[in-house]
Amino acid sequence: EYVKELLGLKHIEEQLELKLGIGQVTIVPGDSSKDPLIKGELGRAAAKVLQRMVNNGDILAITGGSTIATIPKHLPKLNKNVMVVPGRGALGEEVEIQANTIVAALASQLGGSYKMLHVPDNLELETMEKLYEDPKIKDAIAAIKKANILIHGVGDAIQMAKRRGCEPESIQHLLDNGAVAEAFGYYFEKEGKIVYHANSVGIRFSDLQKIPVILAIAGGSNKARAIKAVALNHRQHVLITDEGAALELLKLC
Ligand code: BG6
Repeated sequence: EYVKELLGLKHIEEQLELKLGIGQVTIVPGDSSKDPLIKGELGRAAAKVLQRMVNNGDILAITGGSTIATIPKHLPKLNKNVMVVPGRGALGEEVEIQANTIVAALASQLGGSYKMLHVPDNLELETMEKLYEDPKIKDAIAAIKKANILIHGVGDAIQMAKRRGCEPESIQHLLDNGAVAEAFGYYFEKEGKIVYHANSVGIRFSDLQKIPVILAIAGGSNKARAIKAVALNHRQHVLITDEGAALELLKLC
């Protein structure tokens, strides 16, 4: 806290809360796009917020990504009775940073149970509809729909599309439509309008309104425009970011 005062970060947090309309902005010193260790600091800050926020009976839905993956190791073993679920089915991420993997690690730290969603991404619509009929998948989706806390990462649109092995035509579509941001499989242009989404199951855009608490965790000066676009798209209660992204965000807002 003292370091934050010294760096003037408290003041920037307040400015961003006002400008982005976010209840609580927390900024950690550093820039994760230049120093990978700072990503861990985002995880540490998120773990602190979670520890204070989580109550017995909560259902937490989380996305994958290398940022969200840093949260569990900063949590002590708690004895809560919560359920952790992935926000959506696999979105083409490496196993280590897949939502399912982080779900298990987070549930083991928080206490309680978890459900996984073993559904690949970008399925044909017909196949997806069939999958919806499977009892295990139905059960996991029902839990996801009841989530009262959503924790998601934010990515750069083109970087995420490439990381997920999207077809060149989809990448061209993103470029043509000015996509700058990605979150839970949805892609947004700079004002927050959705321009594309991956076919997967789980949380849909229309579900966001019903989720009482949404936390976004993303940092790095190179993600500032993506963070802004996602903040314009949907209500966020908490944004945990870093100094690099925050300084760029101030210029953009
Ligand atoms: C994905 C999430 O797994 O990770 C997205 O579904 C997010 O919501 C992305 O945009 C961010 O990844 P990273 O590695 O930059 O934290």
